[in-house]
Amino acid sequence: MVSLTQRDGWALAKDKGVAAMARTENYNAINWNAVSDEIDKATWEKLTEQFWLDTRIPVSNDLDDWRTLDTDHQWVVGHVFGGLTLLDTLQSQDGMAALRKDVRTPHETAVLNNIQFMESVHAKSYSTIFSTLNTPEEIDEIFQWSDSEEFLQNKTKRIFDLYHDDEHPLKKKISSVFLETFLFYSGFFTPLYYLGHNKLANVAEIIKLILRDESVHGTYIGYKFQLGMKELTDNEQQQMKDWMYDFLYKLYDNEEKYTHTLYDQVGWTEQVLTFIRYNANKALMNLGQDPLFPDTAEDVNPVVMNGISTSTANHDFFSQVGNGYLLGNVEAMNDSDYNIGEPNDPEDPSK
Ligand SMILES: [Fe+2]
Ligand SMILES: [Fe+2]
Repeated sequence: MVSLTQRDGWALAKDKGVAAMARTENYNAINWNAVSDEIDKATWEKLTEQFWLDTRIPVSNDLDDWRTLDTDHQWVVGHVFGGLTLLDTLQSQDGMAALRKDVRTPHETAVLNNIQFMESVHAKSYSTIFSTLNTPEEIDEIFQWSDSEEFLQNKTKRIFDLYHDDEHPLKKKISSVFLETFLFYSGFFTPLYYLGHNKLANVAEIIKLILRDESVHGTYIGYKFQLGMKELTDNEQQQMKDWMYDFLYKLYDNEEKYTHTLYDQVGWTEQVLTFIRYNANKALMNLGQDPLFPDTAEDVNPVVMNGISTSTANHDFFSQVGNGYLLGNVEAMNDSDYNIGEPNDPEDPSK
């Protein structure tokens, strides 16, 4: 059962000649003690447990590694992250808002709200990396590139259009899963490759935290897609499947060109393409479909596979999340904490 869209349930009322909006149905408070889909609750808990912020990761510790890279490899790192910034911007500005129009439960809205905020954290985290590793001129150039590069813009605009097509809610979900479980990986390859070679460990830590989020997002949105798919007739399901595979082919065709643009200069193109075909299959799996490409985990560069499969360095949220992810030490507040500037303020060295 699909819930009402925001627009439904509202009716125009006229009061003394002035048009006003009046809701005809009661508005319901979200009740987390009556959860109709346990996956919503489990996903909320998982996502909130793995909350993180870019500012807690000491990227500047990677500066020595960064200086050992030649300009071609530095170019690849900067522009790969430029591309990822654009995709995470799309997710945070349009993607989750689009999916939120078609929720089945109020708890799904809450989960999507969480995802939307984290997409903003992801999009911002690349800027944290840029501000540490790149000059202001290089940063300007990277953003000019991501705002105009043909193949990057192709996929972004195609998915933007699907997000804004309210006639096809399931196509929005396919787009989101393809973006997060497939299209991100031409970019994720680079930091994982360097991680496997003991370089840029803190940059890689940010990417692995993003990847960990995307893995949950892809699974969750794929699951919601499968619920919707089951409600279609056999004929409609087949049509949706045909569309999905055709869309994947088109995205792959574009992604091949994008990968050449980024990686030809360092000679990594073929291994990146293997990696993205492997992840395209995983995207299909999230959507409950059979793989399209013959590539398996064994075909992917083992250095990169190793990077992707390891967990972040430390999962203990109360001390650290991930390698170098430092939370401030928390101590309980007491009454004297409120005595700011007063004679018995323990924090004031003049007292
Ligand atoms: Fe993201
Ligand atoms: Fe995501």
